[in-house]
Amino acid sequence: MPTNTSNATVPVLTIDGPSGSGKGTVSRLVAQALGWHYLDSGALYRAIGLAAGWAGIDLSDASALVRCTFGTRVEFVEKDNAEPRVVVNGMDATDVLRTETAGAAASAIAAIPDVRAALTDRQRAFRQAPGLVADGRDMGTVIFPDASPKVFLTASAAERAERRYNQLKGKGVSFTLDGLLREILARDARDANRAVAPLRAAEDAVCIDTTGLGIEEVVQRVLALVSARVD
Ligand code: C5P
Repeated sequence: MPTNTSNATVPVLTIDGPSGSGKGTVSRLVAQALGWHYLDSGALYRAIGLAAGWAGIDLSDASALVRCTFGTRVEFVEKDNAEPRVVVNGMDATDVLRTETAGAAASAIAAIPDVRAALTDRQRAFRQAPGLVADGRDMGTVIFPDASPKVFLTASAAERAERRYNQLKGKGVSFTLDGLLREILARDARDANRAVAPLRAAEDAVCIDTTGLGIEEVVQRVLALVSARVD
């Protein structure tokens, strides 16, 4: 994980959107194609939620959660072109972080303004040369408001649930398509309606509806936006 302070001249591409919109996979592939760093901000929220659970902290105890946020080490360990492993306080938590339980805990703590504030500098520190692809909910609106281009990915809730279903299949987690759809809709509502940094497209974001599109097609569209901006 980059450790230097942020560098305002380094280009940032933000990719925001609801869960299951494909932004994680698209962001990672775009970062690889560009040779840029990648920030998975959702993994940070998930990691804090997980560490809070380990410490037995009540998810409504804001001051304990802020202490936990500052005290939790999160490392992204990259190996070849595989998805980075997420190591929380020295433990590889990649698989448990993907579960809907971890997503729900992340979404609960993400609604607490002081927790978001405690993560701001940590996220901005990822802005390192030659560039950054930042994936999340508020990358273009709050964390990197000067980013260009900004992308907002959407997809129908049914398709997002199906993508999540296919992602989780064979991972030893118990779930149903209906249950996933309900969880996705509940998380969308919580993320879109919270008072602080609600999920919404930045005014200058380019929205791409990925329903029915393949990942590669979305990646190419995003790369075209970047080269239109950078060249
Ligand atoms: O993107 P992912 O599904 O991993 O994010 C998990 C949760 O973390 C989201 O539902 C959202 O509540 C929260 N989050 C956020 N802001 C971000 C990234 C994630 O509030 N930038």
